[in-house]
This record gives sequence, structure tokens and C-alpha cells, in this order.
Amino acid sequence: MTLRPDDRRFIVELMRRQAGLAMDDAAQHLIDNRIAIVAARHRQADAELVTRLRFNNDPGLLHEVIDALCTHETSFFRDGHPFDTLATTVLPDLAALRRERRTLTVWCAACSTGQEVWSTAITIRERVDDLQGWTIRILATDVSQAMVDRTRAGTYTDQELARGMPERWKARYFTRAGDRWQARADLRAMVEVTRANLLDPAPSARRFDLIMARNVLIYFDAAGKRRAMDAIFGAQASDGALLVGTGENLIDPRYEARPSGRTVVYRPRGATRSAALSPTESL
Ligand SMILES: C[S@@+](CC[C@H](N)C(=O)[O-])C[C@H]1O[C@@H](n2cnc3c(N)ncnc32)[C@H](O)[C@@H]1O
Repeated sequence: MTLRPDDRRFIVELMRRQAGLAMDDAAQHLIDNRIAIVAARHRQADAELVTRLRFNNDPGLLHEVIDALCTHETSFFRDGHPFDTLATTVLPDLAALRRERRTLTVWCAACSTGQEVWSTAITIRERVDDLQGWTIRILATDVSQAMVDRTRAGTYTDQELARGMPERWKARYFTRAGDRWQARADLRAMVEVTRANLLDPAPSARRFDLIMARNVLIYFDAAGKRRAMDAIFGAQASDGALLVGTGENLIDPRYEARPSGRTVVYRPRGATRSAALSPTESL
């Protein structure tokens, strides 16, 4: 079914207001198809569903529609090299800066179904010797409650794990749960998962050493990007690090780009690097 133009405009505006997302005319088919799926679930005509959204205060339905219209594409160790850079440069540097406290805080700010969260946790466990025995806290958030529930469950099919999870780590960090695999309990104990919208102030008073906001800002309009960056910067430790998606070019005067191999690491301006990094590694 094709939505009436004013119904579609309402959905575009709703997504902009609620999630900061920029949807243009090119998204017409996507909007129509996804609304049709939600409407079918509710056994309603598409136009009736939009009318309900317009005139009823129904947060459950609103969240369902936001979830349906967001892109949740993700995979384990997505793009590979950012996780190599975490292991070889970013995390050792942060470890040197936090060696007194021996605590490291990470925020995965658009976690989708959680692959990025477990990839980060495994990188910390497997590849950064300096962090053995430290307290590592990872906060995972997403605007979609369905994504939050999936991340919290930490269960994946063989097909999902085949997208990026090396066999040896699958065997070490996942246990059989029926026809799926679940992230091991000690990995799950490192992670707190909650729903949070990047348009709102950060969901925690903590200052995060590492923030992952990958492949989410690209979907925002300019105002959404500004609000999300305010939330991110407000939650960032002044000597911390921020990773965005590969190919996403962050322009924010509060951060400076520090390329490390193929990965661009963003550090708050003026952030010092630990003495642990050799001069050849500095920019
Ligand atoms: C393409 S996925 C990226 C997942 C992961 N970070 C990665 O790079 O593989 C984008 C995620 O951002 C979430 N998202 C969209 N708008 C958001 C917002 N305003 N606040 C928080 N999360 C949002 C979506 O629900 C989706 O799960």
C-alpha cells in the first residue's frame, strides 16, 4: 500500500522529532513498506495506523514505528580495523591514563542488536594485556527497545555469528542456548543495557573513557547531529576517545581527528596522550 503524501510527511516529521533522523523523498518506499509491516502486525490499514499515531498517545506504538524505520544493520567486528586500532592503540593508551584507578568505562551509544558491544568486550579481554584484572564497565544503549532487549539477551544465530565472529572466539565466549548461541555470563556481567535516545542528554552521569557512536550519526539531520554530539561530548572523559563509523567524517570543533592506521580516532581537543605511546605513534 502507498501512504497518502500527508501521512508520509507526518512520519518523516515524527522520525525527525523523535529520533533526529533525516528521511527524504528517496526513503518513500522504505517508509511505506515498513509502515505496512507494522500495520499488518496490528491488523489495521496503513492509513488507520498513521491516524492512531497522530491522534492517540500510544508510546508502545510510537516505539514500534521508530524501531521499524531505523536501520539496524550491524555485524561482529564491523570493518575490522577499528577493533585492531582499539587493541593496539586506543585501549593501551587509555589503560596508561587510568593505571591508578584500574577502571575503564565504555559507552556503545547505538548498539543495535549488540554485536559491537560483544566485539568490544572480547577485544578488551583477548587483545589488551594491560587490562587484565581491571573493572570494565560497558554501557550499551539504543533508541529502539527491541534492540535493547536483543542486546541484553546476547543471543545470536549461527548465521549472525558467521558475520565476523572468529570460530575460536565463538567457542570461547558463546554458549549454546537452544538453536542459538549466547554471550557468556561473565561477558554479559560487564555490560549494562538500557534504552536511550541520542537526542537526549546522556543516560548516565559517568564520564566515558571510550565512546562508540558508529554508523548512527549518518542518519541524522543537522539539528539531530548537533544534539547527539552535545550528548556525546557531555558524557566524554576529557582525555577519552570517540569512534564513529568508518567513512563518517565528524566535524565538531570540540574534537580533533587523530588518524591511527585506517581508523580515525577522535579525542577531545587538548586531550593528552599517555607517555606509554612512543613518539612514532604520536601525530
Ligand atoms: C546501523 S545501526 C549501527 C549499529 C552499530 N553501532 C554498528 O556500527 O554496527 C544504527 C542504530 O542506531 C539506532 N538509532 C537510531 N536513532 C537513534 C537515536 N536517536 N538514539 C539512539 N540510537 C539511535 C538504531 O536503532 C540502530 O540500531
